[in-house]
Amino acid sequence: MNNFTFHNPTRILFGRGRIADLAREIPAAARVLITYGGGSIVKTGTLAEVKAALSGFTLFEFPGIEPNPTYETLMRAVELARREHIDFLLAVGGGSVIDGTKFIAAAIPFAGEPWDILVKRAKITSAVAFGSVLTLPATGSEMNNGAVITKRATNDKLAFSNSRLYPRFSVLDPSKTFTLPPRQVANGVVDAFVHITEQYLTYPADAKVQDRIAEGLLLTLIEEGPRALSEPGNYAVRANLMWTATMALNGLIGAGVPNDWATHMLGHELTALHGLDHAQTLAVVLPAMLQVRRSEKRGKLLQYADRVWGLRDGDEETRIDQAIARTREFFGSLQVPTRLSGYGIGKDAIPALLAQLERHGMTALGEHQSFNLAGSRQVYELAA
Ligand code: NZQ
Ligand code: ZN
Repeated sequence: MNNFTFHNPTRILFGRGRIADLAREIPAAARVLITYGGGSIVKTGTLAEVKAALSGFTLFEFPGIEPNPTYETLMRAVELARREHIDFLLAVGGGSVIDGTKFIAAAIPFAGEPWDILVKRAKITSAVAFGSVLTLPATGSEMNNGAVITKRATNDKLAFSNSRLYPRFSVLDPSKTFTLPPRQVANGVVDAFVHITEQYLTYPADAKVQDRIAEGLLLTLIEEGPRALSEPGNYAVRANLMWTATMALNGLIGAGVPNDWATHMLGHELTALHGLDHAQTLAVVLPAMLQVRRSEKRGKLLQYADRVWGLRDGDEETRIDQAIARTREFFGSLQVPTRLSGYGIGKDAIPALLAQLERHGMTALGEHQSFNLAGSRQVYELAA
């Protein structure tokens, strides 16, 4: 196991009815900006519930944060927040709203051009406090300090993180996920699954706790993901999915072990250029990535085959083949296509994707920092 520092300050309020406890989490004198997406929380009544819980607070609203949140939209929230002297942000929505709110929180006090936080890795020295009410289990953004922001003008989808950007608290009420469309439920399962594989399917590091937790989370997704689609009103299923997605990317299973993240980087370019949902890109890239890097990942792939898919017969190469095939079938069973062709994207799209990776400096990826553009080309070609 490698050395690590683990600290996660986000307070989790889990369970039915927990929105009612919001008032205890936000300073009474705060000027609060509620940030949200395209209106699902208006339709579902969640916004009304949040406002009722915060009656007596000074509230402002910023709607319209889109999936794959853009710098262009978020800067309008930054202007509003500066003008109204906002000192607490409350994100109500999925990963896009929470990520967007992290950017807003960092940009409000930022002295220069906030896009430099992403493109020049400009230092963040302060951030406005924020919390979240999660409505879509997927990204883990509710309990981590990372965010992914897109600049529409230049097709850049870039990630950043900072220790000041953990939510102060996150409300996780599984009953808020009953209204999700099947596509978003499936997306959430795939995204959480790939967050786990990015931290688990690398090389053995003798990290038994991290491995066993990762395997438990993967098995939960395999068991409960399909049930969330076939039994959409099952609270227990929703609760297990929600906590799994949070645990998948809150730093716990990634501490002390090698991390990969190449699948995410190749996926971000597919969203930037072709508009695929984040999880759709992962469903396309991961099976091909595992195939191309099967010798580098051999030890962990065999462990994954055994402990997650129960594959114990046949020779090692066959078991690895089967584990990759099972992974692809699992995504397919959730109705998430696992080929570029499933989204109408041909091989002719690959050169532009590679150019984007190069422009973004994504040329030495993975747990060995050795996965280069030639490897990325192979992965995109195999995913065609
Ligand atoms: O915008 P509204 O109207 O709210 O509708 C949303 C949106 O259209 C809808 N939705 C959310 N909750 C709902 C609901 N509809 C009905 N009922 C509900 N309860 O779902 C749609 C998708 O929402 P979005 O927030 O975009 O999805 P997700 O949570 O999958 O977030 C994806 C974003 O997170 C980033 C991705 O790159 C992408 O931009 N990621 C963030 C990470 C992080 N911060 O750690 C890690 C991930 O790898 C990921 O990259
Ligand atoms: Zn992801």
